[in-house]
Amino acid sequence: SVTPIKVLVTGAAGQIAYSLMFMIASGQMFGPYQPVILHLLDIPKMADALKGVVMELQDCSYPLLHSVVATTDVQTAFIHINVAILVGAFPRGPGMQRKDLLKVNVSIFKEQGEALNKYASRGVKVLVVGNPANTNALTALVKASDLPPSNFSALTRLDQNRAQSMISEKVGVNVDSVRNVIIWGNHSQTQVPDVNHGYILNYPNRGLIEPIQTSVNDDKWLNEQFIPLVQNRGATVIAARKLSSAASAANAIVGHVRDWLLGTKDGEHVSMAVYSDGSYNVPKGLIFSFPVTCRNGEWSIVQGLKINSSTQQKIDATTKELQEEKETAMSFLN
Ligand code: NAI
Repeated sequence: SVTPIKVLVTGAAGQIAYSLMFMIASGQMFGPYQPVILHLLDIPKMADALKGVVMELQDCSYPLLHSVVATTDVQTAFIHINVAILVGAFPRGPGMQRKDLLKVNVSIFKEQGEALNKYASRGVKVLVVGNPANTNALTALVKASDLPPSNFSALTRLDQNRAQSMISEKVGVNVDSVRNVIIWGNHSQTQVPDVNHGYILNYPNRGLIEPIQTSVNDDKWLNEQFIPLVQNRGATVIAARKLSSAASAANAIVGHVRDWLLGTKDGEHVSMAVYSDGSYNVPKGLIFSFPVTCRNGEWSIVQGLKINSSTQQKIDATTKELQEEKETAMSFLN
């Protein structure tokens, strides 16, 4: 029998978790033969709500769900985990400054970085979802000094999925034929959606692989509308739903972790925010979204893509934002 994989979800009484845990327990993240033990963490005032979620998980009778550890204690949550999905974060309240928001989140992710360092399996794969996701991931990484930086990542897969879906609608093909759209940089409005290396698979009456740019055949739309549509999609969902994206975020988390552990397909890359090694002149040590391929549980940044000058300008702006976030976060840490 297969050893169950221990998966921590923080923010477990929140919105995203309410979709995510059911996807994990039903086998969508690790496949139909991999049992899971869910570790669920939230803060003490959410303890009752968390109990309710556990009851619902039990009521699903998932064959792959080996057991559930629901807790408000950090050590209990982080002990021996193989995968950490850090969703819980402090939300931005009315009148709250960006800096104040960063400050509370630095304190949360400092504690969780230390807990990863002390209690988690040495191979733990960490995905940070809670915002500001890139800088929260960096905070945790810095505090988990015994773990390799390559164990850490932040979520930009939702932005990639949004971009691919918009392209599929514009071109009139199934979204599955839209491949290799890239998100560079920060998971924020400075993110850089880039279709210049993407293609449409089996575009009707054309080649097997047709560039997105010629398939869309509307540079004005690509440059002036598509990019801001992707950058602002999160805000547009909030305006409509009065709540932030939740099911689509959970779905993106499943895609991110599954590709990281089980591997990307040949000829395809996905976007993950990971620890920069200096590729594409992005300063080393930022958590930056890059195109990556994954194999045997390790990601590697796709090399050698030619970046045009308009994309480069946007990459410079998102880099600057991330450097400023990093400086602020590190000043709170020290
Ligand atoms: P939510 O407010 O519904 O749930 C957050 C949960 O986290 C709450 O239950 C809260 O009590 C808990 N929490 C707060 N501090 C905690 C701590 N120290 N330890 C454990 N749990 C803690 O929020 P929702 O909608 O689930 O979103 C969660 C986060 O994900 C937000 O920061 C949101 O901005 C971010 N997000 C990121 C996306 C991305 O693509 N990277 C996409 C969508 C949301």
